[in-house]
Amino acid sequence: MEASAQDPTSASSASSEWVAIATEVELQEIGRKTALVSNRKITVFYRDRRFYAMDFHCYHAGGPLDVGNIEDINGISCIVCPWHKYKISLETGEGFYQSIDLKNPRRAPCWKSKGIKQRTHSVEVREGMVYVRLSTSDTKYESDYYYSKDYQQRMNFVKGVP
Ligand code: FES
Repeated sequence: MEASAQDPTSASSASSEWVAIATEVELQEIGRKTALVSNRKITVFYRDRRFYAMDFHCYHAGGPLDVGNIEDINGISCIVCPWHKYKISLETGEGFYQSIDLKNPRRAPCWKSKGIKQRTHSVEVREGMVYVRLSTSDTKYESDYYYSKDYQQRMNFVKGVP
């Protein structure tokens, strides 16, 4: 990922511009596409006649969400991270886990929410093109870390870039 002079985790640096990602037909065919929008790597998904956009890096440890499978959890379309199988709502960025009732271990596990962990972005289709606009919410989400200066510096250190 290219280094940014701005901190993309800051809502004030997020672009409020709509950016064209692909044609509607192309995204329907390939199902997902990753792009840089104002130096933020995002992935757009197509699922059940809807488009969704979220940060590319999984909030847990930075896994590449664009190669994950999509599953329905309680009727909610979720991307399943390929690294540790965390499930994230495509629409809201909410994380889900399976809860076990220790007082009643015979009871089937049920899905519970961890709250919103992954930043999602706005998607709009106009005249056959799919556009994304970055979220400008000041709320911090765990996936913001992968767009922070701290993360960039760590990656440069790993690559040996001064
Ligand atoms: S990096 Fe995605 S579940 Fe761990």
